[in-house]
Amino acid sequence: MNFDLTEEQRLVRDTARDFAAREIAPKASEIDKAGRWPSEIIAKMAELGFLGMAIPEPYGGAGLDTLSYSLVMEEISAACASCGVIMSVNNSLFCDPLFKFGTEQQKKEVLTPVAQGKKLGCFGLTEPMSGSDAQTMATNAVKTADGWVLDGAKNWITNGPHADYILVFAVTDRSGPRIKHTAFLVPKGTPGYTQAKPDHKLGIHAAHSCTVFFENCKVPDSAVVGAVGEGFKVAMATLDGGRIGIASQALGIAKAALETSVRYAKERKSFGVPIAQHQAIQFMLSDMATELDAARLLTWRAATMKDAGARHTMQSSEAKLYASEMATRVAHKAIQIHGGYGYSTEFPVERHYRDARITEIYEGTSEIQRIVIAASVLKG
Ligand code: CAA
Repeated sequence: MNFDLTEEQRLVRDTARDFAAREIAPKASEIDKAGRWPSEIIAKMAELGFLGMAIPEPYGGAGLDTLSYSLVMEEISAACASCGVIMSVNNSLFCDPLFKFGTEQQKKEVLTPVAQGKKLGCFGLTEPMSGSDAQTMATNAVKTADGWVLDGAKNWITNGPHADYILVFAVTDRSGPRIKHTAFLVPKGTPGYTQAKPDHKLGIHAAHSCTVFFENCKVPDSAVVGAVGEGFKVAMATLDGGRIGIASQALGIAKAALETSVRYAKERKSFGVPIAQHQAIQFMLSDMATELDAARLLTWRAATMKDAGARHTMQSSEAKLYASEMATRVAHKAIQIHGGYGYSTEFPVERHYRDARITEIYEGTSEIQRIVIAASVLKG
């Protein structure tokens, strides 16, 4: 088994690391505290090709592989988890399904500017009364002579307040034993499509999310993405990729928490020696490093399988489950190593702890990942 990165993957990772250190890390605390949408960082990520990383160049992307995407996600998220999720939603939840399921016209007119980062996308699946049980959504789309009329609400829509397009899922047939869903592409500004104010959250303060509403929102037939009635599969296949993005975000948060802890443990003294010399601290650092490596291997495996075109539902869920819970454990230990300073907003580890927590929730809670994994295990 070969764990070496290619020269191109190393170059992409180093570019992201350098960019994150120079342009993102110095601002991470400020944008978190102010809850400021980082427009200037998003523009620079676009210039570097980070907003459509695995989309082929003819459609505005960087034409790289999923492992490169994971490497960049880790570096960006280590500097700022908010910037990480803004990037991940655009890449995994918008560009990826549009490339896989979109028409040629949708790819030319919408995917291309979004993959270039000239426009931004978001993904509307979750509703006020349906999160984990995604199929039972209340949003409807009714067929008319020349298109569809959407009615409903979606919430926790990351990038929602700023996105130029939403890929939204609605029920189009409730007549059979199983309800059927369809995916639609709706541009911002379409009459009947509105956005509420940004949500207040525990962490990832700079990544704005909001509730969006569809009220008698008319879209043409050309807004349908994938086949009519097959929208749930579009959503699920999209999340198979999205969960690699969130696992990578968790890797970045944990990496930052570990690196900060190592630095602090070498500087801070107690009982006459740097605390790094105490076995109690060394054991924590050992566990943090080991868990981080284990999560990275799971994530890289899922990314590699996606690139090979293999079904990777279970592997993505394993990566997302383990990496997200690992990030919380690592950030928890990072605060412990920092003692009182870890609890203070002057040090970054409290931000890592708050930011880690969401990775256990969005794009499927840990409980949902366990359901997906169990289904595969039991199927054999
Ligand atoms: N790929 C392709 N098709 C899939 C699939 C996949 N990964 N998973 C399921 N399907 C298909 C099934 O084969 C089945 O097809 P048939 O009807 O032809 O048999 C169909 O989809 C329904 O599958 P299930 O019966 O397994 O569906 P379910 O209702 O039992 O639900 C679930 C499965 C795993 C619980 C799913 O509802 C789920 O993942 N829930 C969590 C939703 C979620 O992750 N939400 C996150 C929102 S996005 C977000 O957070 C974005 C953000 O802002 C950052």
